[in-house]
Amino acid sequence: MGRSSRILSFFLFLIFSAIKCEAQIPAEQDGFWFGKKAAESVYVEAFFDPLCPDSRDSWPPLKKAVQYYGSRVTLVVHTFPLPYHDNAFASSRALHIANKLNATATYNLLEAFFDHQELFYGASTLNMSRASVVDQIVKFVTMELGASFLSAIESGFTDSETDHATRFAFKYGCLRGVYGTPFFFINGFPVPDAGSPLDYESWRKIIDPLVTKKIKMGV
Ligand SMILES: *[C@@H]1O[C@H](CO)[C@@H](O)[C@H](O)[C@H]1NC(C)=O
Ligand SMILES: *[C@@H]1O[C@H](CO)[C@@H](O)[C@H](O)[C@H]1NC(C)=O
Repeated sequence: MGRSSRILSFFLFLIFSAIKCEAQIPAEQDGFWFGKKAAESVYVEAFFDPLCPDSRDSWPPLKKAVQYYGSRVTLVVHTFPLPYHDNAFASSRALHIANKLNATATYNLLEAFFDHQELFYGASTLNMSRASVVDQIVKFVTMELGASFLSAIESGFTDSETDHATRFAFKYGCLRGVYGTPFFFINGFPVPDAGSPLDYESWRKIIDPLVTKKIKMGV
């Protein structure tokens, strides 16, 4: 083989390996539905890191707003573990594992992570091995889901499917241009001031006109 054809085949190899990595399309849409999926509603997406204090602070006002609008608003939460938060990926994976075992409990677990973030980052896990951290997360998730789920949660952490689900969620965020948490979209459009917690009044100010428009249009 001549030098140029060797270079050519090297580049072809690179191109084909790149295609192979990129062409993985998940079989299902990512995200945890808050309550029912309503087709004709304002569609809110939130990207959260379960160990991010700003995500934690932004959740109560968003939850209050979504509950206020009822079926007029649909909420989906995506996990987006930030690389600079310790154990963010493992705790995001815990949510995907829980969602598979009991989808109704997913949001309870998310709130439990928000309430006890300090157990999983900084000094509290600094000297712990990866295995001990996962063990601690397994116990934490078991407290939320129930003791009968212990072994299922444990094996969830060795199941490559839950690893992939957590990666897909992250990649989905990357495709949408998410670069921090919390990050919100409404009907697919980024919410202004993304990256800082929005209070309840701000949510009402943003969503009220959208909901009113829908009623006027007779939807
Ligand atoms: C699933 O989670 C919900 C909410 O926490 C709970 O009420 C229900 O009993 C759980 N189901 C099972 C099978 O554990
Ligand atoms: C971690 O381990 C080192 C060395 O044993 C110790 O000096 C340090 O205080 C420990 N840090 C925490 C937060 O436990």
